[in-house]
Amino acid sequence: MKKEFIPMSRPFLGTEETEAVAAVMKSGWITTGAKCAEFEDRFAELTGAKHALALSSGTAGMHLMLRALGIKKGDEVITPSMTFASTVNQIVLAGGKPVFADIDYDTMLIKPAEIKNLITDKTKAVIPVHFAGAPADMDAIETATGNIPIIEDAAHAIGTRYREKHAGYKNPAIFSFHPIKNITTGEGGMITGNDGQLMQQLKLMRFHGIERDAWKRYGKGSDPGYDISEPGFKYNMTDIHAAIGLTQMKRLNTITRRRNEIASQYIQSLSGIDGLDLPGVPVFNHDHSWHLFVVKVKSISRKDFMTGLAEENLGYGLHFPACHTMTYIKNLFGVSRLPVTESLAGKIISLPIYPGMDDMQVQRVIDVVRNLVKR
Ligand SMILES: Cc1ncc(COP(=O)(O)O)c(C=O)c1O
Repeated sequence: MKKEFIPMSRPFLGTEETEAVAAVMKSGWITTGAKCAEFEDRFAELTGAKHALALSSGTAGMHLMLRALGIKKGDEVITPSMTFASTVNQIVLAGGKPVFADIDYDTMLIKPAEIKNLITDKTKAVIPVHFAGAPADMDAIETATGNIPIIEDAAHAIGTRYREKHAGYKNPAIFSFHPIKNITTGEGGMITGNDGQLMQQLKLMRFHGIERDAWKRYGKGSDPGYDISEPGFKYNMTDIHAAIGLTQMKRLNTITRRRNEIASQYIQSLSGIDGLDLPGVPVFNHDHSWHLFVVKVKSISRKDFMTGLAEENLGYGLHFPACHTMTYIKNLFGVSRLPVTESLAGKIISLPIYPGMDDMQVQRVIDVVRNLVKR
């Protein structure tokens, strides 16, 4: 009999989320309102940033940030190629040029020295990615960038700490609550930041440019009017999603602990095997949130490795197909050469890691991986 399927990822949800959603549904107010405001407060507390703004996705957050920074035609934005395409798409859609920095082979994090080499007088922003739940080396990145604005892509970094500070505590940062992420709202995102004026501007852009919160405009006896100084988008998060997020936040410590346990079991049991390189962890002080567990398969082809996992009913992921190899990027900007990213591109594969995985399931993955790479 075939063993049960173990997916690469699975959201960690319980009856509390269902009840929280039901309570919002019964409340009479289901779009952006008090739950959203509470979720923002809790998230700001988690990160240590002064402000947090809940959105319909992380991608929406990146769109708003790039617009607030005024990224336009001819501007360059430095970011890794080994990331999800959404950030790079947003740079290009704003009219900018993504300039790709190479990464470290072991940690797959952006190299600060690479950033320094790529800065020109056209560089208008730098977007490091806290890859797989490991923080990028922010002190070194800040030294390399000088006064150029930094936006942290913290989509993988809920629960990630750099030198004891949560990702996004200092620079504007974008988080994602897509179902694969460490906490989810179904779909959703959050921007954190400390610049009150910038965050107010983003808040206006989040909802049509309208100056007042809709949920306050509809209250008893309140003024339903509004003014628009600049047109905005429709990127607000609903209270239904925020209610899930608030419940998920209560689970965050459990989620991060279990992800760390699974990563430790993988590292303990799979290290020292020829033909397989494990994710390296940064040398600086940090707390990893183990959003992904990305291994590099060397002894067999990735295709054979994936076939082997599938035959054993195990899921896998690919994080990520390198952005600089996308057809539209090559057509628009020509070919860039990123030796480390390219050396990784054909070898990386993400193993199952999610809080609901039990020790037996982790062991099943370990046994299959060992057998496959030893073939
Ligand atoms: C590194 C990275 N950045 C940005 C995003 C975009 O987030 P969202 O899917 O919430 O738009 C994702 C994931 O989806 C991601 O993995």
